[in-house]
Amino acid sequence: MSEQQRELTPQQIVDELDRYVIGQHKAKRAVAISLRNRYRRRQLSRELREDIRPKNLLLIGPTGVGKTEIARRIANISGIPFVKVEATKFTEVGYVGRDVDSMVRDLVEVSMSLLRSQKIEQVGPKARERAHEKLLDIIYPEGRRYHPLSGYEKSSGDPGNLPIDIEETDSVSAKRQQLSEELRKGELDEKEVEIDVNEQATPVVEVFSSQTGFEEMGINMQGLQSMLGNMLPSRQRRRRVKVSEAREIMFQEEMHHLIDQEELQKEALCLAQESGVIFLDEIDKIASSFTSKSGPDVSREGVQRDLLPLVEGTSVMTKYGIVKTDHILFFAAGAFNVSKPSDLIPELQGRFPVRVEFDALKVEDFKRILVEPQNALTRQYRALLEVDGLEVEFTTEAIEAIARFAFQANADYENIGARRLHTIMEQLMEEAAFDAPQKLSGSYVIDETRVEKAIAPLLKDHDLARFIL
Ligand SMILES: Nc1ncnc2c1ncn2[C@@H]1O[C@H](COP(=O)(O)OP(=O)(O)OP(=O)(O)O)[C@@H](O)[C@H]1O
Ligand SMILES: [Mg+2]
Repeated sequence: MSEQQRELTPQQIVDELDRYVIGQHKAKRAVAISLRNRYRRRQLSRELREDIRPKNLLLIGPTGVGKTEIARRIANISGIPFVKVEATKFTEVGYVGRDVDSMVRDLVEVSMSLLRSQKIEQVGPKARERAHEKLLDIIYPEGRRYHPLSGYEKSSGDPGNLPIDIEETDSVSAKRQQLSEELRKGELDEKEVEIDVNEQATPVVEVFSSQTGFEEMGINMQGLQSMLGNMLPSRQRRRRVKVSEAREIMFQEEMHHLIDQEELQKEALCLAQESGVIFLDEIDKIASSFTSKSGPDVSREGVQRDLLPLVEGTSVMTKYGIVKTDHILFFAAGAFNVSKPSDLIPELQGRFPVRVEFDALKVEDFKRILVEPQNALTRQYRALLEVDGLEVEFTTEAIEAIARFAFQANADYENIGARRLHTIMEQLMEEAAFDAPQKLSGSYVIDETRVEKAIAPLLKDHDLARFIL
């Protein structure tokens, strides 16, 4: 696939987001434009390209209106290395905890696995074929096609270059052909073969590095580890395994041969640098007025300060090499109900030039959220209860009633956005969820009366509503 085909246009990005997130058109458009601009920039000449900075977005909106949901769906847009992190997870450099650089390291890991799976798709069939032929050589050495020393030199359609002194008679090749078919069909899977397996001696450091603490000490454990790993010799060991297992081992080995690791790492770094997106969720929670309310926590502002160079452009050491963050796109999102964007330190505010506000959700939106998204709540409940033989059906009036009650509860008590739908649905479905399958089965229609009966009493009783809804 060419890049052109893979890169979605702004409209296509919005369409993709539309499948899960209702409304919020301004936000979707802004996200789509920022993403597409990356692609546009990459098509330019080198001098122009250097100066075009990514349009970092600050997404602002009350709780439960789809900010995080949008982030989750961006992750599904293929070809973009994407990480979503909570700003509250980080601590200032020097304090115990994760430092902000680690999000860039995560991003590189994501682009590595993205590229790796692309490569597997590309060379997988070839590697399978090679593994098959080599396995055949082991099972039936008389008809060997591959030179045992050079590995896999000769393709089968190249008889002039037969490297070994075996006459390939008709009977031998017929036998090989027959075995090959049996092997493909899996008929030999349970048989045992002896194969040589490469074993990398595990460096001792691995034991330590799994424990946290090293990262903050400034020790690049990953780098150290891979260095040691390369220095330690890999041993070959003969093992007896089932054919099915041998096939998998050889496939992995062939993949290893076919994929140039160094090249892969270089590409991954480049991909992260040029196309990477980091989504900083809950950014408002590290703004200063937020922290002053929840007790003294000096390091919050420190985190903001640590973020500055990342967003501005700096170099981060990762286990695959250095990543420059100049062109990594940052999205930040926050409810900003306690703090305001202006409570962020000014330098950070300035680095998120594009601001988008999310709309508060209305009854109409709730109705759509209940039924339209691919993962809509009503679909989820229907699927769950279907397992127990209950065919749940929601009438249009029932959906309207649920949406209305949700909106009312948000207005009367706390506005928690679409999350209110979850609490209401949970109450509404409680009975069915408990009674299926023993007491209830077959068709189960949820109509307006049922919704009224389940929810209205709760909503009237203030104490009850406060706790349950
Ligand atoms: N516009 C929407 N379309 C579809 N589903 C939505 C929408 N808004 C919210 N939801 C649903 O509500 C839940 C909460 O939404 P989300 O996690 O996006 O909230 P948020 O805006 O990030 O809020 P917070 O500021 O509290 O983190 C999600 O599970 C999602 O399914
Ligand atoms: Mg959120």
